[in-house]
Amino acid sequence: MKAIEIRNKYLNYFKKHGHKIIPSAPLIPENDPSVLFTTAGMQPLVPYLLGEKHPEGTRLTDYQKCLRTNDIDEVGDNRHLTYFEMLGNWSLGDYFKEESIAMSFEFLTKELGIPVEKLSVTCFAGDEDAPRDTVTAECWKKAGIPEDRIYYYGKDDNWWIAGEEGPCGPDTEMFYDTGKPACGPDCQPSCDCGKYVEIWNNVFMEYYKSKDGTYTKLKQHNVDTGLGLERMTMLLQGKETPFDTELFAPVMNKLQELAKADSIESRRIVAEHLRASMMVIADGGRPSNIDRGYVLRKLIRRMSRHLNKLQIDLNELESLIDLDIDILKDMYPELEKNRDTIKQVIIEEKDKFIKTLAHGEKEFEKYINKAKEENKNVIDGQTIFKLYETYGFPPEITADLAREQGFTIDNSEFDKLFKEHQEKSRLGSEQKFKGGLAEQNEKTISYHTATHLLHKALQIVLGEHATQKGSNITTERLRFDFSHPEKMTKEQLQQVEDIVNEQIKRDLPVTCEEMTLEEAKKSGAMGLFESKYGEKVKVYTIGDFSKEICGGPHVTHTGELGHFKILKEESSSSGVRRIKAILE
Ligand code: SER
Repeated sequence: MKAIEIRNKYLNYFKKHGHKIIPSAPLIPENDPSVLFTTAGMQPLVPYLLGEKHPEGTRLTDYQKCLRTNDIDEVGDNRHLTYFEMLGNWSLGDYFKEESIAMSFEFLTKELGIPVEKLSVTCFAGDEDAPRDTVTAECWKKAGIPEDRIYYYGKDDNWWIAGEEGPCGPDTEMFYDTGKPACGPDCQPSCDCGKYVEIWNNVFMEYYKSKDGTYTKLKQHNVDTGLGLERMTMLLQGKETPFDTELFAPVMNKLQELAKADSIESRRIVAEHLRASMMVIADGGRPSNIDRGYVLRKLIRRMSRHLNKLQIDLNELESLIDLDIDILKDMYPELEKNRDTIKQVIIEEKDKFIKTLAHGEKEFEKYINKAKEENKNVIDGQTIFKLYETYGFPPEITADLAREQGFTIDNSEFDKLFKEHQEKSRLGSEQKFKGGLAEQNEKTISYHTATHLLHKALQIVLGEHATQKGSNITTERLRFDFSHPEKMTKEQLQQVEDIVNEQIKRDLPVTCEEMTLEEAKKSGAMGLFESKYGEKVKVYTIGDFSKEICGGPHVTHTGELGHFKILKEESSSSGVRRIKAILE
């Protein structure tokens, strides 16, 4: 069965059982700057899991495009992917354990034809926060899973939550027995040996975990399920890896044909990162040096480097993109729609990277030859840092290269130097910022708050790319520089002005909280995220409208600001626009 058939079977099965099919949310979350990418089907549905009414009702089914980058360095082995598709069915205060399990069982055994003997399941063992989930185990027995293939595990395995805070609950996972021999007498689903592969996860979401670690019951009980399409496709086709399925095989084969120096790991990395990059670009992502943009940049860079390693001419990228879009366009029409943009973005980024790469690799070679002469087998942090700082050579690539040559790397020293470097640049930008606010009085403080409103309004009207590049405030006016590739239209300027004035009229309270940068980032605050190392920063929140890392000070209520007016919009430098505005 092909992936697209499994997807269709799934959606139709749940449709038959009263579910409405809803479209996948984009990979880049709408209205949720707190996460980089959509990482699970439940993410776009959080408001409804918390009790908001969904326009399509209480039973939903979908396929969700997901990107998880925490294991990006593992890609190249036989199972890790960054991009994957998750099939899901949802009960929003509708059915619960019994019906959910009965449907999962029927879908697996009848629709997909998996023999019952191949299935094992796991349930939550219970602890001080929630009881042992014997109800779920009983439902499995009733459906037809014998008791000796029902396992109980603790929170690490059988509790699901996205992040630290939010809706959560015990889950039950379904495992497929590949038929490989057991690795020992204790071999069971939680074991990593490859005999058991997790295929589906049903979360019985009836709790909410607060920041302080306490659990409360949700208004409604929900079911959130997730079935990884690539993995299911691989198992049903009896393939060893997702790269052997029709989703990747044509690109894998093409790469083999083109490669003058074959390496299966490199081919997998190229095929995987190519698909992931295309999906991110089709949903509006663009390479940059921070956050989402940096993830995309990293994907394209690694892909280009491994093409190099395979000794494939980088000019082949264009035909590889065409081939990949042809394979995937029935599943993802957005790829066809964005074919030209996808090519343009990837190729431009690759060109930029070639320059960095050539230079950095040469330097790296010098270091490594010297290190070999000195009989070392560790690349010190100084070297990695110098390659990064002087040549822009990405540390993850230094690490890759080092590994290939049998060297290990001293990450801790690099981290320390990196931290110092980031602190310096952060202090530098704070200094600049302070400069802009040299004269602090009522007027400049008002302009400062107006700047936050303007920043957010620009992001609403122009998009997330419109981030701060500079700010300068006098008692007469504010001046704000931000990234945007073209002149703003009259309508856009009007919209921005209207949005700011509306927030002033709403007289929103301005509050300040101290937290670590990590926490600030998680909370969705805008700002400079160059540093990652836990210093405390101040986050200013303006009602429900804006949240931004900043030194302050600010007015206490936006009502104090008066009327906001944009005087001028002009170019500041390439890709950066400048607005001058006043408060009247
Ligand atoms: N949220 C669960 C998961 O991601 C089930 O969809 O596995």
